[in-house]
Amino acid sequence: MQITLIADDGTRHVLDASPGQSLMRAATQAGVEDIAADCGGCLSCATCHVYVDAAWFDRLPPVSADEASMLEMTAAERRPESRLSCEITLTEALDGLVVHLPETQY
Ligand code: FES
Repeated sequence: MQITLIADDGTRHVLDASPGQSLMRAATQAGVEDIAADCGGCLSCATCHVYVDAAWFDRLPPVSADEASMLEMTAAERRPESRLSCEITLTEALDGLVVHLPETQY
C-alpha cells in the first residue's frame, strides 16, 4: 500500500507502507523528519501531528479521548483535520492515504 505525506514546503513523500503498522512508524522508518514522534508512539508527546487530507479524514477511525487530549498539546495550530499519526493504524482501506505535515512539531 502507498501513502503520501506532503510537507509544509510542498515536498511530497510517497511511501510504501504495510497494513498493521502505524502511520507514524511508516513515516519515521522512511526517514520523514517532519514527524518527530519523540515518545515512540505511546501517546505522550504530540510530535507526530499531521493534518489528514479532507478526502480521507472521514475514513479514519474516530479520535479517542486520550488522543483528543494530546491534540491540545500540538506545537502547530490544531485544526479540525488534526490527528496524531501514531494513532492511525494503516489498513488496506487506507491505501492511497494523503496527509499534510505541520510546519513544526515543537
Ligand atoms: Fe508521541 Fe504520537 S508519537 S504521541
